[in-house]
Amino acid sequence: MVMMIPTRIYRLTTLVFATTSFALSGPDSSDGFGPSLDSARENGPQIFNAVHNAMREFGSSLHHNGMSLFPGVIPEGVLLYHGTGSKEIPTGFEWLAFEIEHAEAFARCQVRLPESVDGNQSPGSSAFVMHPSPPDKPWRPKCPPNAGGGFLHIYQASRPLNILYIDGMAAGKTHMGTIDTQDILLATNRSRALFDELGRADGLCALARKWKIDGFIRMEPGFEIIYCDFRNGLRLVSANRRPPVEDPSEQDDLDILIFEWARAAAQRYQGIGSSRVVLDYSSMVSGFFYPINLTNPDPERPDLPRLVQASEAEIDVVREHVGDAVVRSVSSRKNPVDWQGVTDMIVTRYAKRLPFMAQTDSIDILRNEINGLLNIFIDYAEPDEGFSAARQRCAKFYLQSAHGRTLEDEFIYAGIERTTTEICTALFEVRKLVLEDPDADEGSAVEAIHQIIRDLMETLAWPEWKECGQCQPDELCFVAMWPFGNVEDHYNPSCVNFSSVLSRSNYWQDLPPQLSMERQLWEKDGEAGSEEL
Ligand SMILES: *[C@@H]1O[C@H](CO)[C@@H](O)[C@H](O)[C@H]1NC(C)=O
Ligand SMILES: *[C@@H]1O[C@H](CO)[C@@H](O)[C@H](O)[C@H]1NC(C)=O
Ligand SMILES: *[C@@H]1O[C@H](CO)[C@@H](O)[C@H](O)[C@H]1NC(C)=O
Repeated sequence: MVMMIPTRIYRLTTLVFATTSFALSGPDSSDGFGPSLDSARENGPQIFNAVHNAMREFGSSLHHNGMSLFPGVIPEGVLLYHGTGSKEIPTGFEWLAFEIEHAEAFARCQVRLPESVDGNQSPGSSAFVMHPSPPDKPWRPKCPPNAGGGFLHIYQASRPLNILYIDGMAAGKTHMGTIDTQDILLATNRSRALFDELGRADGLCALARKWKIDGFIRMEPGFEIIYCDFRNGLRLVSANRRPPVEDPSEQDDLDILIFEWARAAAQRYQGIGSSRVVLDYSSMVSGFFYPINLTNPDPERPDLPRLVQASEAEIDVVREHVGDAVVRSVSSRKNPVDWQGVTDMIVTRYAKRLPFMAQTDSIDILRNEINGLLNIFIDYAEPDEGFSAARQRCAKFYLQSAHGRTLEDEFIYAGIERTTTEICTALFEVRKLVLEDPDADEGSAVEAIHQIIRDLMETLAWPEWKECGQCQPDELCFVAMWPFGNVEDHYNPSCVNFSSVLSRSNYWQDLPPQLSMERQLWEKDGEAGSEEL
């Protein structure tokens, strides 16, 4: 039988909800370890992508090991959802979703999970699973006859909520690096059990109190908040009961439930929408700003950065930097530089043209494309040895409109400039091959150009090159989003139909053996009845 049910189906309470200014000198430890323009340049394309993909589900799924943190604000009035087994407003921290479908998946009948399932669960903490399903309809949630459904709480921000956004797939419980920034950098517990979400959230909320913020945004299929104090900053709009099980109002087809959840997340591929989160890019802090060795010890995945090689002393410096940036961001509320807008302007100018140039065999098309791209940077009346002035204008062009004021702005500037320098160097190289050597063999020129463009695209790794195009109404453009997605869905997202999402999950390592757990609970339930509710 296929292993299907995503981790979410059983829910460790944790698992979703039921779901200063450094203007002049940077943070520094005594031995001189600190953020640097050199590091920012070295990691330029990674910084570019972190900014470009921030709060965007698609790019953040592809680049799922986030190394960056962004302070931000959820404006007053934004609606947030919490699916749970209880009508009560949580007294401590809990999880909030930005999407209805995400929360509904947890507004269900739940049973208490035996302590043994998550060995490191702190004693007395509650952990729930969605009730195990009957074997004949494996994924149909089955509850005791009088159980009733769960509850869907709707909350509204009663003031601007200060959050720290942890980028990448930061709610993905894997050892692949998706939670490095939480466990190593923020909450400092390198031996945290993967599913010890209560401990993780507890550690994060201790930081939130110190830094005077309300919570943390993370991403899985859908963005969520670890909200640290439900009695502060939220207004309960409603806490309605879901239909009883076996009721015709019940959403009882798990294929569709999971598909629509994934599709709701897919609606946010290009952004959270409606200004529901406003990031302070000018206070972004990133591992990419630092001379930390971010090489993945897993030789199979050099594309995924890790924090595991950073020393405690280095981590302490970065954490302090994050804290200072958060505190400054919350207290100053200055208009941040729209760095994501800068990256968007760059991406939209080049993203379609590069693959066009990498595909075409026509030297005429290449000549026209390269002239169309580069003439804006050239003054044909002026001598410009080797086009070095033009190349510089090209690299700085979209940066002219950004006026930074923080140290972080300078690191972001350096990262983006390094990226545009890569682009412009490659394009002037191409120009040389197309225009400056009329006697060259056309075929080999085209081949050399294709190689230059392909290398450039590999360096840039923009998500735009993985988009599916239009999908049918019964499909979604599916990129692997923990805990869903096969290997091919990570490397080559495609339109996937509603009945296949649930069965795809082989991309993600460390998924717990849900199936056996489900069975175990079903059997336990069969003999003991459903006392847990
Ligand atoms: C780290 O997390 C584990 C459980 O995940 C816990 O047992 C341990 O006490 C934690 N260590 C610290 C220093 O908090
Ligand atoms: C970074 O770490 C990798 C893996 O441990 C190692 O091979 C590499 O030499 C290190 N790079 C530097 C610059 O220290
Ligand atoms: C959905 O896709 C799967 C895999 O491609 C295919 O086997 C199945 O027939 C499709 N189902 C429907 C209803 O189109």
